[in-house]
Amino acid sequence: MFPQLQIAHMKPKLPILQGGMAVRVSTAKLASAVANAGGIGIIAGTGLTVKELVDEIKKARDLTAGYIGVNVLFAVEQFAKLMLAAMKEKVDFVISGAGFSRDMFAWGKDHGVPVLSIVSSARLAKVAEKLGAAAVVVEGKEAGGHLGTDRSVHEVLPEVLSVVEKIPVIAAGGIVDGFDIARTLGEGAQGVQMATRFVASTECEAHPNFKEKYLAAEEDDVILIDSPVGLPGRALRNNFTDSISGEGRKPIAHCERCLKQCSTKFCILDALRRAVNGDVENGLVFSGEFVHRIKEILSVQEIMDRLSAQFEQAQALACQAPA
Ligand SMILES: Cc1cc2nc3c(=O)[nH]c(=O)nc-3n(C[C@H](O)[C@H](O)[C@H](O)COP(=O)(O)O)c2cc1C
Repeated sequence: MFPQLQIAHMKPKLPILQGGMAVRVSTAKLASAVANAGGIGIIAGTGLTVKELVDEIKKARDLTAGYIGVNVLFAVEQFAKLMLAAMKEKVDFVISGAGFSRDMFAWGKDHGVPVLSIVSSARLAKVAEKLGAAAVVVEGKEAGGHLGTDRSVHEVLPEVLSVVEKIPVIAAGGIVDGFDIARTLGEGAQGVQMATRFVASTECEAHPNFKEKYLAAEEDDVILIDSPVGLPGRALRNNFTDSISGEGRKPIAHCERCLKQCSTKFCILDALRRAVNGDVENGLVFSGEFVHRIKEILSVQEIMDRLSAQFEQAQALACQAPA
């Protein structure tokens, strides 16, 4: 049996959050499937207009009575507008990626919506708790997308646990199966956030080529890129990443001014959209470090069933192990 996770009013059956994935990788369809299977689903607001995000939230509400949150990257120009729109729609919680501001906790208080934050160090976890975070997600270097650290989640987690006083600590990065969950909860996390495993699901709305790229990935296909956001990003090697490696740049044909600050090395919105729409050679395919361990596209329910069974197995093995 999984231990009970509680974040603010939320008591999910499984202590599993599905990580937000920008530019329509995690939409209402995936988030609601996760919520219906007993986890916590997250719609990514990054790359959507306010109207598109509100439509996704409404769609998710039609598909599930479970817990649904919204993730927005702090680096995007529309951060405040998207967060406030999600709060007005009374989502169960909001969560910021790659940074946070004092304001967002005040907005959450005003709207009665819990605010979570993704952190990569004990220092930031402490600040987030002090500002009013309902929980923190500690993300290690194993995660997909933008990274705030080059250290493993298993190194940073104990440091975060030693400074956070009252709120739940969720761990993220490289958690692929129920054995990983058992290890991470055994280290003291109250829950896990997983993203890469949920991309290879029938409900994820990324193009089938995107999912096939995951299934075909080998260990050394996973690389770090230099994102225009100003952070490293974990992705799969392809023509696109080769073209931007080192001093390589891609001229920007049309700028939507999506970021508060952009290095202009390439257009991240265009690169992510291309990949999600199926051009996985000329677009940017974000992925976690352990994608090579995923070999099947399954329904979210099947994924959750396997995670639960593997977790039980790990618990049983731990009980049998000699002291
Ligand atoms: C395709 C993809 C897109 C992502 N986009 C975002 C995002 O928009 N915001 C965010 O906070 N994290 C983003 N992440 C990070 C995940 O939400 C999650 O924390 C991390 O990938 C967990 O590691 P795992 O993928 O190994 O399970 C993304 C990850 C992937 C794989």
